[in-house]
Amino acid sequence: MTTQHPHGHGHDHTHDGNHGNHHEHQHSDEQGMAEMLDLDALLINDHLQDIFAWTAGHQPSPRTILDLGAGTGTGTLGLARTFPEAGVVALDQSEFMLGRLSRKVESHGLEERVSTLQVDLDTAWPELTDVDLVWAASSMHHMSEPANVYERIAGTLSAAGLLVVVEMDAFPRYLPRDLGFGAPGLEERCHAAVGSANWNAHPDWAGPIREAGMAVVDQRTFGYTIDEDQELVARAAHRWLSRMRDALKDDLPAADLHALDVLLDDKDPRSVLARTDLSMRGSRTVWAARIAR
Ligand SMILES: C[S@@+](CC[C@H](N)C(=O)[O-])C[C@H]1O[C@@H](n2cnc3c(N)ncnc32)[C@H](O)[C@@H]1O
Repeated sequence: MTTQHPHGHGHDHTHDGNHGNHHEHQHSDEQGMAEMLDLDALLINDHLQDIFAWTAGHQPSPRTILDLGAGTGTGTLGLARTFPEAGVVALDQSEFMLGRLSRKVESHGLEERVSTLQVDLDTAWPELTDVDLVWAASSMHHMSEPANVYERIAGTLSAAGLLVVVEMDAFPRYLPRDLGFGAPGLEERCHAAVGSANWNAHPDWAGPIREAGMAVVDQRTFGYTIDEDQELVARAAHRWLSRMRDALKDDLPAADLHALDVLLDDKDPRSVLARTDLSMRGSRTVWAARIAR
């Protein structure tokens, strides 16, 4: 079975674009992931504000911030706004993501405070020290040797520096249990099929953080339910379900594949784009850590 991750997570390097001879595929895959990250960012803004506020509660005025695996810059820009005195370095292995991030930085007039750094953390580490806040959102589970990366983070933090690691606990959900057609519980069955393919497995990072010489000072799970802007939720649901449909085509019963086709058919009045009963819901776990004394 394929292990392509519909949200660009996971360790399937064929689809993560680490193979230089697959440039076109790499580009369209990264583009898909980038668009999904940007759409998510619009939807989960309030949820992320909660996490930034929690972070500020632990580290009120960092001067230097490193965003590890910054992607399209959702965290970078949010952190730059939350901490107006801070300089932020956005690090990613992907030139494509960093290009997209840089355009946002320019359009927000933040060039003075935000810079980018292209590094593949599987093979290198930047020359940075005395960082007051290291932020790693939905990126640590991509690393081939996370223990090594946590050790490097510990060596990069200032004495009072804070590490914040954020991970999605599961894929977001969008659909009501009963769609009014097909067997109820379609989304649960899709998630179960995804789960059995081990797509979004992220470990409990508390152990690896401690082993790298840091102390976990707080850990929390932030939930969210978003249903105000149905059109935006529907766009996110459509993108998500179509990736699920492709990736699970050999794993779901025909009736469920048909139900997904109905949901994805823009001309069908039962499609997600025509529905008004959607809600995006999920949760993220966040760990805060400091150098152990
Ligand atoms: C799912 S995205 C998360 C982006 C962003 N942190 C967010 O929360 O929206 C994961 C990012 O990690 C980056 N990444 C994955 N492996 C990496 C590595 N070895 N070194 C540097 N960046 C990496 C990817 O290029 C991608 O942009």
